[in-house]
Amino acid sequence: MIEIQNLTKTYNYGKPNSLTALRDICLTVRDGEMTAVMGASGSGKSTLLNMIGCLDSAEQGKCIIGSTDVNALSENRRTEFRAQNIGFVVQDFALIESYTVLENVLIPTCFVKKRRGAKERALSLLERLGLGDKAKTAVSKLSGGQKQRTAIARALINEPDILLADEPTGALDSKTSAEIMELFLQQNAQGRTVIIVTHDPRVAEKCSRVVEISDGRIIRD
Ligand SMILES: Nc1ncnc2c1ncn2[C@@H]1O[C@H](COP(=O)(O)OP(=O)(O)O)[C@@H](O)[C@H]1O
Ligand SMILES: [Mg+2]
Repeated sequence: MIEIQNLTKTYNYGKPNSLTALRDICLTVRDGEMTAVMGASGSGKSTLLNMIGCLDSAEQGKCIIGSTDVNALSENRRTEFRAQNIGFVVQDFALIESYTVLENVLIPTCFVKKRRGAKERALSLLERLGLGDKAKTAVSKLSGGQKQRTAIARALINEPDILLADEPTGALDSKTSAEIMELFLQQNAQGRTVIIVTHDPRVAEKCSRVVEISDGRIIRD
């Protein structure tokens, strides 16, 4: 379970140019839920996802994942927690273009102890995601849909319980979007908790729950 309690996040906290991106957010996500987060650009969607994804911390409130308040962890412990528990499909893939697909997928295994069998796991993941023949191809040679599949494989390599995605279909045509959405639904059917930030109503309608953010506050759930 993910339990966010009174989370307030201010960028440049305490400085004259500070900006409050999340205001007193309370949100509970049960294990196995498939949630869409929607809202206008600048409303705080990515900031919220980054908190759950242990990429950043907030000055106030709790973000309890399982039994750990990740907002109270040091940066190193947060990184460790993320590698073990969370798969994050960041916006615009963030792949290393000159590396091969396999090399990209293996990056998160550097941050965890269970590295044995990682290559076999990666190859079997790529097979399941329809990239079986692309393992040794440089990412720069892939289509947008193939890059997104690679980013998803990278997010899944450490077998996380939670899968987060920030506008994963934003850069894709509608057919490819639907295929990528199918992959997230499959991951959810396998028991993973999935949270997707999206602008696309076709993505949101496939989710069991839609949370809407406006100006750093949850206005609909
Ligand atoms: N690193 C940052 N430093 C300062 N302000 C930021 C930073 N990231 C986001 N913001 C601001 O926080 C607000 C929420 O941003 P964000 O969470 O990215 O919104 P969304 O993902 O909904 O478009 C925006 O006003 C944005 O400009
Ligand atoms: Mg965003």
